[in-house]
Amino acid sequence: MAKRVSGLITTMKISVPKQNLPGETRVPLVPAVVKKLIGLGAEVAIDPGAGVGSFQDDDAYRSAGAVVLDEQGSAWTRGDIVVTIHPPTPTQADEVREGAVVVGMLAPLRNPEVIDTLATRGVTAFSLEFLPRISRAQAMDVLTSQANVAGYQAVVLGAGACSKMFPMMITAAGTLAPTKVFVIGAGVAGLAAIATAKRLGAVVEAYDVRPEVKEQVQSVGGRFVELPTDTTDTQTAGGYAKQQTEDDRHRQVELMARHVAASDVVITTAAVFGRQPPLLIPTDTVGQMRAGSVIIDLAADTEAGRGNCEATKPGQRYTTPNGVVIEGATNLPALAPAHSSQLYANNMLAFLKEILSDGDGPTLDLEDDIQKATLITHGGHIVNPMVLEARAT
Ligand code: NAI
Repeated sequence: MAKRVSGLITTMKISVPKQNLPGETRVPLVPAVVKKLIGLGAEVAIDPGAGVGSFQDDDAYRSAGAVVLDEQGSAWTRGDIVVTIHPPTPTQADEVREGAVVVGMLAPLRNPEVIDTLATRGVTAFSLEFLPRISRAQAMDVLTSQANVAGYQAVVLGAGACSKMFPMMITAAGTLAPTKVFVIGAGVAGLAAIATAKRLGAVVEAYDVRPEVKEQVQSVGGRFVELPTDTTDTQTAGGYAKQQTEDDRHRQVELMARHVAASDVVITTAAVFGRQPPLLIPTDTVGQMRAGSVIIDLAADTEAGRGNCEATKPGQRYTTPNGVVIEGATNLPALAPAHSSQLYANNMLAFLKEILSDGDGPTLDLEDDIQKATLITHGGHIVNPMVLEARAT
């Protein structure tokens, strides 16, 4: 049964803070989506310059009907519903209105202090990374929309950094063989990378611990690499990869090394939900790669200090002593800000429609699968079982 989020919040005042992380270019709501929200009866206020990185100026928001605030950062303090991509800083969290709603990718397992503050302030916080993978949630799925962009951008970066061109070329000066691309992990980002590399003319191989994805790999033009490992129990009921045993991981690393060494561009996207990225390319395998080849490590993780590749430096690009370029960019969607913001904003609109269904302030329905899974704090407490479990261990 739906109930009011808070007696304090009976309006639909949405506010959009500028995303201030270094290198961030995206904006949580684009003007077209602001217009739709206003059409639904909401008021929208946005920090000045919030859309600059994605080429949407303040006037575009004004034309869509939003109020552009005087001071950057005030969107955190003003809204009944604050719509963000990144979590607030501890100070910003402390300034969110009591009883307000915050929606974004709040990384609640990594930000205990922020989550505690939001809980203490009686904020109802939804973290969209926790959306269940059910068909009704697809339109809201920010991880999917952003991973699609990241998969595409990984190939663009890989093609730019590689010493070869992707397509086969028959020229008067000789024939050039197509570039070999190997994609590790064929989830959303991996499949987007396979499709993009194929379109550019590369020969694409891919591997995933879940054999279920073989047909999907083939459908976007990749060859699925079969490794003689036991893959009978590698997928959860929710469709995610299960955590491997160390023995299984070692075996995979050993068997995969020759595919890595033979490739010109390796794109790694292997992820297990809620865990550090599995280590799949040790430094000695990088040592076997040819000079001029490239690793684009999408799983680069600042906290882990690596990605799927042991030699990755998160947030950096560098060349190893044997001439391999390793790219550890951690925000590839920011390289295509117009499209990634457009998709994120559409996801957000779909989610907001769920909680703004009666046009009279946000409501909460704890029997609803989507709201239940994404709700992190409410009523002064942390309520998400996954967050509570992580705290207990
Ligand atoms: P996903 O969950 O859809 O796909 C991950 C895939 O990895 C799954 O198919 C899974 O079966 C596979 N996998 C898990 N363990 C494996 C192993 N040992 N060997 C081979 N495959 C394995 O995730 P999605 O959305 O495709 O994202 C992939 C990664 O990219 C994540 O780490 C995500 O955080 C990251 N990402 C990075 C971005 C960046 O800018 N660097 C932007 C977006 C996503």
